[in-house]
Amino acid sequence: MYSEKVMDHFQNPRNVGEIENASGVGTVGNAKCGDIMRMFLDIDENGIIQDVKFKTFGCGAAVATSSMATELVKGKSIQEALQVTNQAVMEALDGLPPVKVHCSLLAEEAIHAALWDYAQKNGIEIEGLSKPKSDISEGEEEEDY
Ligand code: FES
Repeated sequence: MYSEKVMDHFQNPRNVGEIENASGVGTVGNAKCGDIMRMFLDIDENGIIQDVKFKTFGCGAAVATSSMATELVKGKSIQEALQVTNQAVMEALDGLPPVKVHCSLLAEEAIHAALWDYAQKNGIEIEGLSKPKSDISEGEEEEDY
C-alpha cells in the first residue's frame, strides 16, 4: 500500500523538532481527522531557508509527507519553497494511496502558514502567498471520504 520511501520517511522522519526563535511558525489542522501539523522555518537575511523543523500529531502519511517536505524546502529560497506543493511532495515519495492524499496537504499548508507568519513579522509581502487556512478542510465540506 505504501511505497518504500513513504515507509522510510515514516519510520525515520527527517527534521523533527522545533526551532527556537524561528523566523516563521505555522500551525494547521485537518478538522476531518483531527490531525495537527506545526512547521518552523529559519530564514536568513537573503531569504534562504537555512533550517526547517516540524512537529505533528498526525497519521503516518502526514509524518512522511512532512518529513519529505522539510527536505525539499531546506536550503531553498522562499519562492522555491512555494513551489513545493503537496503534489511535488507525493511525487518525491513515489505516491500515496488516494485516501491519504489529504494528509499531504497538511505539510504544504503548514509551510505556507510559516511563510505567512514570517512575512507578517517582517512586514513584507510574499508574491503568490495568500493568507493560509488554519483548517485545511475549510471550504471542502462537500467532499466524501
Ligand atoms: Fe489525518 Fe492523515 S489521517 S492527516
